[in-house]
Amino acid sequence: MRPLQISGKTRVLGVIGHPVEHTSSPAMHNAALQALGLDYVYTAFGVRPEVLGQAIAGMRALQLRGLNVTVPHKVGVMALLDELSPEAQAIGAVNTIDHRQGRLIGHNTDAFGVMESLRLDGGLETLPPRVALLGAGGAARAILYGLLQRPEVEHVALLNRTPEKATTLAVALDPEARRVRPGTLDEWAGDLLGQAGLLINATAIGMYPHPQASPLPDPACLHTGMVVLDIVYNPLETLLLRQARQAGARVVDGLGMLARQGARAFAIWTGVEPPVEVMRAAALERLGKPSI
Ligand SMILES: NC(=O)c1ccc[n+]([C@@H]2O[C@H](COP(=O)([O-])OP(=O)(O)OC[C@H]3O[C@@H](n4cnc5c(N)ncnc54)[C@H](OP(=O)(O)O)[C@@H]3O)[C@@H](O)[C@H]2O)c1
Repeated sequence: MRPLQISGKTRVLGVIGHPVEHTSSPAMHNAALQALGLDYVYTAFGVRPEVLGQAIAGMRALQLRGLNVTVPHKVGVMALLDELSPEAQAIGAVNTIDHRQGRLIGHNTDAFGVMESLRLDGGLETLPPRVALLGAGGAARAILYGLLQRPEVEHVALLNRTPEKATTLAVALDPEARRVRPGTLDEWAGDLLGQAGLLINATAIGMYPHPQASPLPDPACLHTGMVVLDIVYNPLETLLLRQARQAGARVVDGLGMLARQGARAFAIWTGVEPPVEVMRAAALERLGKPSI
């Protein structure tokens, strides 16, 4: 890999969030930039919510080429941009800003990232007709959008701890209530989950520092005909994925989605498709390291 050479012409990319110290995005993007010999550098900016407007004005003034946007700014940043992609508009959140000819364009690459991961990491060229999606937060919203773009998906059971949030999300993305059925995990767990050919955990359950938790009240609904994706990637093998493996299901960890949403942002900024495996390996190495 070529050493990083920063000069007066080097263009700047980065991520804004709060907190942002634990992000693996700089590791992923700098690894890909160096592998391709592109003259950019990617860094992380801790931005408190009350100075988000100043940060975006700074992006314009400093001519930063692009930014990723993470918690808690994905929704708040939308009003500060000049244009939104159709995906970002429909999802209602931005995770990538493209600074192009003086204009800031908001994108959302999470739906693309998860669909690519299901295709390439999960071997699902076509999705099963019945899907169970756990969670109703920001990530679940992007994933539900991606699922509803696929005509072969007939029903999505959208299950969340707080059922009102599942209902609000279902109404927002499926106003005629044709394909999304909201509910709680406990309410519908057995039957609905058992019928699903694809189960996606988009809750934070199982994430560090609670790796002993599983979003499923009873893992008996897991079966051999199922693909199980857990978007939690810290730890990489969650309790849910261990339960799914034991039940004979095909499992997909959250690193693929992480790397592929990042790869899409990279391509938007640079016009070059990055080596996804290099990005995945860099994120993995970063996750294995204790945070400073
Ligand atoms: N692999 C990737 O590329 C990727 C991308 C984005 C996010 N993620 C991961 O996905 C997870 C969710 O992220 P997000 O941005 O959607 O977060 P978020 O907007 O804060 O949503 C959190 C979701 O988790 C549920 N939840 C949290 N703690 C819970 C608990 N103790 N019991 C039951 N439900 C609980 C929430 O339910 P309520 O509505 O009831 O509060 C909500 O549905 C995080 O672990 C994040 O790291 C991964």
